[in-house]
Amino acid sequence: MVKITINGKTYKCEEGEQILKIARSNGVFIPAICYLSGCSPTLACRLCMVEADGKRVYSCNAKAKDGMNVITSTPDIEDERKAIMQTYCINHPLECGTCDQSGECELQNFVFHMGVDTQEYAIKDTYKPMQNWGLIDYDPSLCIVCERCVTVCKDKMGNNALKTVPRNSEPFDKSLKETMPKEAFAVWNKFQKSLIGRNDDGLSCDSCGECAAVCPVGALTVSSFKYKSNAWELTKIGASNPHSSDCELIYYDVKPASIEDRKDKIYRVSSDFDFGELNKAARFGFDFHNEKAHKDRIVLERIIKAFKENKIKNIKFNSFITNEEAKMLSILKDKFDVKLVNKEAKKYQEFLKEFSKYSGADLYNGDFDTIKSSDFIISAGSFLRHDAPNISYKLNNALKINKASALYFHPLKDSVVEGYSKNLLGCKHSSNLDIEILLWILQKFGKNLPKWLQDKFDSEFENIKKDILVDKKETQTKIVKKKVKDEDGKEVEVEEEKEVEVVVKTKKEILINVSKYSKMLGLDEEKIDKLLDKKTKFSLIIGEDFITSKNAILLAKLTGLIQKYSEFNVLIIPPRTNSLGVALICELDEMMDGKTLGYNEDGDITLGVHGCDLDAPALNQQEGTFVNLEKRVVPTNPALSYDGYELNDILKALNLGYEYSADYTDKLGSKFKNIKFDDLENSYDNSGKSHRGYKLNIKHTESIEDEFEIISKNELIDEENTIYKANPIGQFSKFTNRASALNSVAKLYAGEEFLKTHSLEDKDLISIDRNGKTLSLRIELDNKTDGAYLPFFDDKIDVDEFFDGSRYSKVSLKRSEV
Ligand code: SF4
Ligand code: SF4
Ligand code: FES
Repeated sequence: MVKITINGKTYKCEEGEQILKIARSNGVFIPAICYLSGCSPTLACRLCMVEADGKRVYSCNAKAKDGMNVITSTPDIEDERKAIMQTYCINHPLECGTCDQSGECELQNFVFHMGVDTQEYAIKDTYKPMQNWGLIDYDPSLCIVCERCVTVCKDKMGNNALKTVPRNSEPFDKSLKETMPKEAFAVWNKFQKSLIGRNDDGLSCDSCGECAAVCPVGALTVSSFKYKSNAWELTKIGASNPHSSDCELIYYDVKPASIEDRKDKIYRVSSDFDFGELNKAARFGFDFHNEKAHKDRIVLERIIKAFKENKIKNIKFNSFITNEEAKMLSILKDKFDVKLVNKEAKKYQEFLKEFSKYSGADLYNGDFDTIKSSDFIISAGSFLRHDAPNISYKLNNALKINKASALYFHPLKDSVVEGYSKNLLGCKHSSNLDIEILLWILQKFGKNLPKWLQDKFDSEFENIKKDILVDKKETQTKIVKKKVKDEDGKEVEVEEEKEVEVVVKTKKEILINVSKYSKMLGLDEEKIDKLLDKKTKFSLIIGEDFITSKNAILLAKLTGLIQKYSEFNVLIIPPRTNSLGVALICELDEMMDGKTLGYNEDGDITLGVHGCDLDAPALNQQEGTFVNLEKRVVPTNPALSYDGYELNDILKALNLGYEYSADYTDKLGSKFKNIKFDDLENSYDNSGKSHRGYKLNIKHTESIEDEFEIISKNELIDEENTIYKANPIGQFSKFTNRASALNSVAKLYAGEEFLKTHSLEDKDLISIDRNGKTLSLRIELDNKTDGAYLPFFDDKIDVDEFFDGSRYSKVSLKRSEV
């Protein structure tokens, strides 16, 4: 820690921290437009200039030194800032009355703040047509070329889909250099040269919408929101992303649907883009609610009667529920001895339990912060950008900002992840090799391992021959030229042979000691060792492939040992929104014979959001909490009204329930804190510190060190005909697929290499066969991968019967005749 003084007041900070960050964390205002927290500075706006020890610096870029004296405002600096804001206004269309950003526009705010009320500068404008980029629109005439969009896409999302392109403007009057304030001239000069364009015709864009979120003006906007509302008419309802286990902070921006219909409607989802980036589903998948719900007393009574008569033997549900609902299901289980059936959460629960026994901790120790601050990260068992996009953002951010290195293990190539950094090594491996990855990590990074394991690892090396190039001296005969005198005494040049010693590179075969696991995985250990140079903060990300693997229990043990015996912080991604909450609250079972009550899943009687016997509210119509992948209990609030029964109405009718769902929040169980729902905060502060709900404490226990058998249950697999179970980017479940911006039909998504191997083409109609089951669907080319994946977001098809619980399946494929 060091101390710096800002405007006469002393603050403690880390040496090397940016001055702007220190100021923001301590509530000191410094104007700034182009800088985004957690990204590299672009120095486009120069508004953040300050004086540090008497010198002009840009506070978003300048680093704190012990004893530094910073002054954030001087008359000169204020003149520059005012002139910069003037230049931003040149030719900026006067359309604030209709612009979507009006009311939350940083250009408006700073122009007002700097007191810009005249314009001294001018340049002839050029025609710049509006562009539609799918879910977002770009209006270049409103763009101030702050490059925030380019930066967020590169440094956070990792897609690198945007760039600056030439503006082709009128010639710039260079003589202004002598007359204008210096910084303002530089900003305007740069601004007049560029606009924003898309790389690869937009192919690298995943339509996450984050660029539109960070745009300080109305240049990048969400197309569906265009001209729908003024910012000040909207009420912000703080909530949590209901679609994936990041459960990131979102705001449902609502107002009445129309003058006649006064019921609230969600117009858009907004966010705190400085600290909580949203994935595509979180931003665009907001209208999945149960809109025509009604209270069907007869069905409710049927359910109550079935419980009272002990006819319901199972409750089948998924993890798109709140912790409070999970608690309600547990109460029903305790009272009526029903089985709680949730296959995905059960696998996660079993994985966690086994992990805990061997790690000696009831929870994994990694989170977003440990990943972001790591300098060496391994991801294994996850098709990361599809399964957990927010983790892929943090991985990319660590690579870009911390100059971290990473290994990405997956059987399917992902060219976007591999493009994050030259320090990320894509380790494509056979889908039947999963334990080998964790064994290799333990062998390479484990310290003070139990003796049986160390002995095993010591023997799991083998000598292999390797050709290396070595320097060798050899004598060569060379022709050299020499001057001699001929018979007439004249000097002439003659050639003669001469023996000379030269150094040549020659191949030499040597024996090297290589880990058997690394050999099986085809790892280039030399390259990995280079990536590991001077790295000290390690993170391991474990995904759903391992949780659903036939080797899951063994993989859980090894993951536990990695957390215990290595420096890796481990994060085991909960596969669905609240898998972790469900796993911590419910004791999950196998299905037993008898009647099943389905909750958003098929049952003999079904309670649910869409097309069920009895209506239930969607997650954007409920209050409650989730446990996110950071092990944080985060609150969510209802954005929309709901007119049907809730799960709690069943409990109340059985005299088991509290008045409101939120009454369960402080009674979730021993792993949770007794904090009432209304006392849970949901925000980030100016330093980026999370004030979202509360974090679960990790409890430490005695761990198991006993020897266990390490035998893979995976069969040898025919990689060519193997398909993978995964959703396309932005889809997570039938709920995302119900949202109007995301709704689509399932296809087999396949890379070019896969299509070529199977003589198939994009858009072909194919049939997939496995064990007598057939599925007909179209191909959609995904040029970012080389394999093929079948999605599970479309509830019109049942893909589970093609996978037997795992994420890989061998199938036969053929083109259908139309
Ligand atoms: S589109 Fe918006 S975020 Fe991007 S450079 Fe222009 S003003 Fe900045
Ligand atoms: S929508 Fe997302 S991926 Fe596409 S350009 Fe914007 S930030 Fe990049
Ligand atoms: S915020 Fe520092 S240059 Fe723009």
